[in-house]
Amino acid sequence: MFIVDFSQMEWLPVILLFLLPVFSLLLLTKKRRMEGIKLPPGPLKLPVIGNLHLLGNLPHRSLEKLSKKYGSVMLLQLGSVPTVIVSSAKAAKQVLKTHDLDCCSRPASPGGNRFSYNGLDVAFSPYGDYWKEMRKVFISELLSMKRVQSFAYARKAEVDKLIASLSQASPKPVNLNEKIFALADGIIGTVAFGKIYGTDQFNNQEFHNVLGEAMNMMASFSAEDFFPRIGRFVDALTGFKARLEKSFCELDAFLQVVLVQHLDHSRPKAEHEDLVDFLIGLMKDQSKPFRVTENNVKAMLFDTFFGGIVTTSITILWAMSELIKDPRVMNKVQAEIRHCIGRKAKVEGEDLAKFKYLKMVVKETFRLHPPLTILLPRKAMRQFKIGDYDILPKTRILVNVWAIGRDPNSWENPNEFYPERFEENEFDFKGSDFNLLPFGAGRRICPGLAMGATNVEFTLANLLYCFDWELPSDMKREDISMEEEGGLAYQRKTPLCLVPIRNNS
Ligand code: HEM
Repeated sequence: MFIVDFSQMEWLPVILLFLLPVFSLLLLTKKRRMEGIKLPPGPLKLPVIGNLHLLGNLPHRSLEKLSKKYGSVMLLQLGSVPTVIVSSAKAAKQVLKTHDLDCCSRPASPGGNRFSYNGLDVAFSPYGDYWKEMRKVFISELLSMKRVQSFAYARKAEVDKLIASLSQASPKPVNLNEKIFALADGIIGTVAFGKIYGTDQFNNQEFHNVLGEAMNMMASFSAEDFFPRIGRFVDALTGFKARLEKSFCELDAFLQVVLVQHLDHSRPKAEHEDLVDFLIGLMKDQSKPFRVTENNVKAMLFDTFFGGIVTTSITILWAMSELIKDPRVMNKVQAEIRHCIGRKAKVEGEDLAKFKYLKMVVKETFRLHPPLTILLPRKAMRQFKIGDYDILPKTRILVNVWAIGRDPNSWENPNEFYPERFEENEFDFKGSDFNLLPFGAGRRICPGLAMGATNVEFTLANLLYCFDWELPSDMKREDISMEEEGGLAYQRKTPLCLVPIRNNS
């Protein structure tokens, strides 16, 4: 046992005398190192927690308020992690374009130690050869435009199911959140696992439980995110680590079963190749220098579910919320779609190119309600400058896309939902306009952009073509709450309940 021997305390002054010059030297070296360095301004920090207390429940809003005081490039200390927050298009361009290569890594945490696939997956993997190879697979093979088009069957099948279920409910109120989440889950599930997804041959209930818990764990507070050195002990003490490991093991076991099923040669050949089939093909391909392993496949599947379902559903629900609040825009977008489609039963994939106003509605939704209000964290790999300010290596960098979308310096009446603003400017969300960044930009831009945008447009077009929409009889437009809540992605706080009226004209 360790016992303090107080008789030894007479040594204390001697020890302090020895330590004093050491500390002074350290301080002096730090001061010298910082000479000529200009850090971004920021609020005063408290001991230990730094500025963590300033984040609140909706960090994008709190950070936007702070940026009004400290500027569009500000420095906060989140726990022990120096974090630069960027809140203007000009500064975002510096981060995501000019200095993309200096800061396109991800911090080891959050994510790095959170899930065992992190480091293996694309979303949280730090910059390096492994990430580059995995991303190549993701962009050029898994989610290329050609492949996205080849998934049209999954999109169409799920939208058909949604139309049937809404037609049955019409004219009674429906909880649109449930319906839209089921649709996005069905599209991504079918794309990833094949047509058995959602049938008795697939244990959907178990998968949802396992995936839901995994997503909760990714979004919840981990001490390690803000105190990388000691946080893991705190996470162990609070039970967070154990819950995380359990969740990961369950997801891994589930994905292993799916892999084994797909590897079974006696399985009847499916009409459409799903992602698992395709990834198994890559695994067996010996010709490439980059070998894809079972764990890589599982990591990519995790990315696909993690990145694809919530973002798509949240966007559709925000668009419907804005439209029901504004009958002028609702009528105009419905008139456009109905005029272009004529008397067809439904909107088809190839019709999407005709809808100019619908595309503006989608852009306006992304501007006001980007599902990832703050881009996934980046990490400075070396020292560089944003404007006059020096960004030191290992600084965490957050781009507040939500604040940029509402910046009065870039947008007139920024809080108003006004799709026509895109008539005058050609802003797009594909990563070259830094005023509108719902998918990010640069090396870390969302690889699911084409698939996400197509899923949103196709679903919305059909919802607006096949149905007129009303509020439940006891509700007024002013009652529709636009409050948000979330962790990694921010969605409506309350479910959106609307009345679909089947359009038979
Ligand atoms: C409306 C739909 C979507 C939106 C708004 C969206 C948005 C985003 C954003 C903002 C990022 C972070 C970019 C950054 O940090 O700079 C991201 C990353 C990512 N998204 Fe999406 N996403 C959507 C759909 C999808 C889909 C359908 C998939 C996959 C099937 C996907 C997979 C990913 C992956 C793997 C990453 C990590 C990229 C990396 O770190 O290299 N996303 N997404």
